[in-house]
Amino acid sequence: MENLQAVQNLEAFHSKIKRVLITEEEIREAVKKAGKEIGDSYDGRPILLVSILKGAFVFMSDLCRAIPVPCEVGFMCAKSYYSGTTSSGVVKITMDLDQDISNYHVIIVEDIIDTGRTLKDVVDMLKLRNPLSLKVITLLDKPSRRLVDFKADVSLFTIPDHFVIGYGLDCAEMYRNLPYIAEYGE
Ligand code: IMP
Ligand code: MG
Repeated sequence: MENLQAVQNLEAFHSKIKRVLITEEEIREAVKKAGKEIGDSYDGRPILLVSILKGAFVFMSDLCRAIPVPCEVGFMCAKSYYSGTTSSGVVKITMDLDQDISNYHVIIVEDIIDTGRTLKDVVDMLKLRNPLSLKVITLLDKPSRRLVDFKADVSLFTIPDHFVIGYGLDCAEMYRNLPYIAEYGE
């Protein structure tokens, strides 16, 4: 009985992975290129990569290893929404950085920009702390969903208005461990 339940759960899990949008290989190539570009433009300067948890943890770990120059990492947690697949429109910082950023060139590493609310709030907040410079790199961008005026300095993939999962992105905390980006569907 327990086994049947487990099999059904697994089937339900897989049935929601509608189709792969971006493969592991495509992600690897794009991350490698982005890391090299950061290395080329910041060489010799103090870099602090700031990742917004939880969604960006996989991108952060691959990107930092693709940067061939010294850099530090920092984490903060900004919750915007998604208990399921819809936005509540409320951005809350639930964990802040533990370092002073005024001596760093800060690069915010984000998983996806959707309405733009989360990053706009985070960027406004970090600017007040006077970093040497502040840039934003995002793995994915859904420009058609934007509700506030916000543009990343670097975006690896622009995608249409699909709810996506994998490579750190979740639906109700599941699917973050998929190695590719997929469209989620009922
Ligand atoms: P924004 O404030 O609307 O730009 O929301 C950005 C945050 O919402 C991202 O950092 C993600 O954590 C989450 N999010 C937005 N779109 C998706 C999606 O398609 N799949 C999973 N999470 C998403
Ligand atoms: Mg996020």
